[in-house]
Amino acid sequence: MKTDELREKYLSFFETKGHTRRPSDVLVPTWDPSVLFTPAGMNQFKDHFLGRVKLDFTRATTCQKCLRTGDIDNVGRTAYHHTFFEMLGNFSFGDYFKEDAIHWAWEFLTDKKWLALNPDQLSVTVYKDDDEAANIWHDKIGLPFSRIERLDEDENFWPASAPSEGPDGVCGPCSEIYFTPKDGKKVEIWNLVFTQFNRVGDPPNNLEPLPSKNIDTGMGLERTAATLQGVTTNYHIDILRPIVEAAGEICGVKYDPDSDNGRRLRRITDHIRACTMAVHENVYPGANKEKYVIRRLLRRAVLDGHQMGMHHAFAYQLVDKIVEMMKAPYPDLQDSVTRVKSVIKSEEENFLHSLDDGIARSEKIFAGMRSASRTVVSGDEAAELYQTFGFPPELFEQVAIEHGFTFDWAGYKDAMVEFGERSGGEQVKLFETGPIESLKNSVRSTEFIGYESDSIEVEVKGIVVGAEGDEESKLVDDFDKIGPEHELIVVINKTPFYGESGGQIGDTGRIYSSDFEFVVTDTQKDSDLFLHVGYLAKGKISTEATATAEVDINRRAAIKRAHSATHILHHALQKTLGSHAQQQGSKVEDDLLRFDFTNMEPIALDQLTVIESDVNDKVTDGGLVKWETVPLVKARELGAMMLFGEKYPDPVRMVTMGDFSRELCGGTHLTDTKQVGAFEVISEESVSAGVRRIIALTGEKAKEYRVKVDQTLNDMASTLGCSVNDVPEAVKHITGYVRDLKKAVNGSGKAPEAPAAVASSSKADVDYFHRKEMLKESARQLNSPLFESAERVKTLFAEIEKLKHQLTEREKSGTLTGDDLLAKSSTVGDVSVVVAEVPGANANLMRQLIDQIRKSTSSSAVMLFAAADEGKVTIVAGLSKTLTDKGLKAGDWVKEPAALVGGSGGGRPDMAQAGGKDAAQIPSAMEKAEELAKSLFA
Ligand code: ALA
Repeated sequence: MKTDELREKYLSFFETKGHTRRPSDVLVPTWDPSVLFTPAGMNQFKDHFLGRVKLDFTRATTCQKCLRTGDIDNVGRTAYHHTFFEMLGNFSFGDYFKEDAIHWAWEFLTDKKWLALNPDQLSVTVYKDDDEAANIWHDKIGLPFSRIERLDEDENFWPASAPSEGPDGVCGPCSEIYFTPKDGKKVEIWNLVFTQFNRVGDPPNNLEPLPSKNIDTGMGLERTAATLQGVTTNYHIDILRPIVEAAGEICGVKYDPDSDNGRRLRRITDHIRACTMAVHENVYPGANKEKYVIRRLLRRAVLDGHQMGMHHAFAYQLVDKIVEMMKAPYPDLQDSVTRVKSVIKSEEENFLHSLDDGIARSEKIFAGMRSASRTVVSGDEAAELYQTFGFPPELFEQVAIEHGFTFDWAGYKDAMVEFGERSGGEQVKLFETGPIESLKNSVRSTEFIGYESDSIEVEVKGIVVGAEGDEESKLVDDFDKIGPEHELIVVINKTPFYGESGGQIGDTGRIYSSDFEFVVTDTQKDSDLFLHVGYLAKGKISTEATATAEVDINRRAAIKRAHSATHILHHALQKTLGSHAQQQGSKVEDDLLRFDFTNMEPIALDQLTVIESDVNDKVTDGGLVKWETVPLVKARELGAMMLFGEKYPDPVRMVTMGDFSRELCGGTHLTDTKQVGAFEVISEESVSAGVRRIIALTGEKAKEYRVKVDQTLNDMASTLGCSVNDVPEAVKHITGYVRDLKKAVNGSGKAPEAPAAVASSSKADVDYFHRKEMLKESARQLNSPLFESAERVKTLFAEIEKLKHQLTEREKSGTLTGDDLLAKSSTVGDVSVVVAEVPGANANLMRQLIDQIRKSTSSSAVMLFAAADEGKVTIVAGLSKTLTDKGLKAGDWVKEPAALVGGSGGGRPDMAQAGGKDAAQIPSAMEKAEELAKSLFA
């Protein structure tokens, strides 16, 4: 039976048993802060189990995309481990329980119409105290007790070991079903969890029966397919083996299951499949959280390739095969092949570069070890290499061995602990505990009325002392300590405060009555509960008190401006760059926004200008902003922009702007795009492979920015002595002038004419956007940050004065002739000795002077000195042929004087050059040269 067929059979079997087929949830449930990746089928139903949502159905069945990294080291080595895998499941929310769950599992596995497995090859385990389940298996199904094993809570409870170790919350015993192949070891294929308890605190007597009992099951799709297809490893089933073999072809290695390369190819298959599924959902490799996990998976695969000789990007080529194998259940994958490949490829290339850097660094370490006669690579060295270059220890060990060294794994692990390693394995944490959780049970949800009002009468429902997640935090009835050092979380029945979500930061403001004033410094959301974080400014706050909750409306208005501008920007980006420029993330603050989106290259400057003025046009023209709650299908029909990998509620809130933008969004918005006031892009940069970030200002902040643009430009105009309109032209002249002056000072050009004043143009005053372009253009010429351009012009003027001075000096030396110098020579025997300073001269000029002297004397020794910038010294010494014929060397003469100015040098016997860095010592160096001449040339 094909895997696609098994998936379909499972779902339709449970449909025949009254289950509603639901789609897989996303792989990265951003709505659930307790996990990085979806770990199990039940994850999307957590609130259903807890009775926190209205139930449209009480039975559901899914095939869920899951990712777990707990067993990552086993991937490729064992037959059944994966990171990405699919879990089939059936769920009951207070509907059927153990008896039906067991019966249906048995029917599906053994019935001829379904999987038709041989009942004799099946066995089960149950929780040690679960007589009820054991009896159903024995009495109703007819399994002999010999095939019903009773195990402890670490095996047969879900979450594992929940009774003694927690977490608190719903949990239950489970029963696992195993299949034993004819000539193989038994494999677990299905886990039936009887979610029947609420754990309250530590044992004993801590498992309270739930009023309604639930079922949560999970069948491993790949394992069961392996069982049905009679293959010994999941990697040989119909949807995986072709990927493994394609990987072998790409790497030029024939797939041999039992070899090292066989294991590598399986690992590559698993990891790149996981990366493909994640990148498809717009989760790109990056530095944090789930993005970091994806980066690690990709790097491990690249490394496996590297060890098989793949020193260029290759893994991306596997995407086509993966999509071919996975497209039946996930047809959307086909739309993103190009994008997924380019993201994987560029991340691969980046990593390969740092691998090269890492290898270069490791060579240095080995050289150091050799000279210190060390043989063991220290843990610190390996950890540093990993931290700096992402150079993995496995690879370091391998190259170390190639160089005849050994590797200290224990030391490496210690060093990583010291570095505070970012953890690769995530814990499957399902239910939180603590005061907020108990508030969730009593208050359940806060009604948000902030779309309509910003100040209302409310009732205090809960007061938590200490920050969220703080071990010490606890619920109190009242509180009277004043000041920001006593952080509180206050929950009220309804609120005008927006809780941070969808990229928009939380509101601030105050909650007050005649008895107290609570300052709200931030508002967060935990499920449907709004948490007002802050401190007491006066009085005493108590639960049940009534009070006024009042949002800081100025700040809120600024946040609205930034948020509405974000939607306009999103539209403008797609219009200019194309529909691939999708939102990746955003952070909306007061008049400040950060917007991340997919685009492989940096945005060209002229495109950025178009995007910015597009947004400003929408602001100037105005456009009504409206929002309404509509069914998800309707929003889709209307073409609302939907983000991949996002889980949308149904119905959804849809925000419409003018006739150009429709987005699903829960944020607070303006009523007209005119109210954005002003929009200014302040930067465009890279976030990670294929993701760019724009930072922009709106409203007040954008206006302040505009004032600064004009101030800077005016400032430059007055320094340059020209009109604002002529600043770029004047900057061009002056930077050109400096360039030419420098050349002249270095002797590689003529002394330039000072630029004539820029003729005052008759251009009419230009508008702000042109003025900004002028400033940008000038800043580019000056190679300076925008707002430092005026300062930069001032330093250029100072530089010009200095260069001009150097040039005068140089010109003076330039008119010197050999004869001028000879006039000041002394004689040692029949040798004319010239030791002189030639200010502003470069080595070239000095050599010319020496040649002139040599021509007009029969026997001469010349040493010339010149000081340049920052105390640097150039010395050139030359001897005539009469002296070199005697075996004398210019280099021997120059050595000691050079040492005196802090330098050294060398050259041919007849001409040597030296450099130094202490011009103050030139006089004593010259004295030394004279003194040496007397003994050398006598
Ligand atoms: N939630 C259960 C598991 O993950 C079915 O094993």
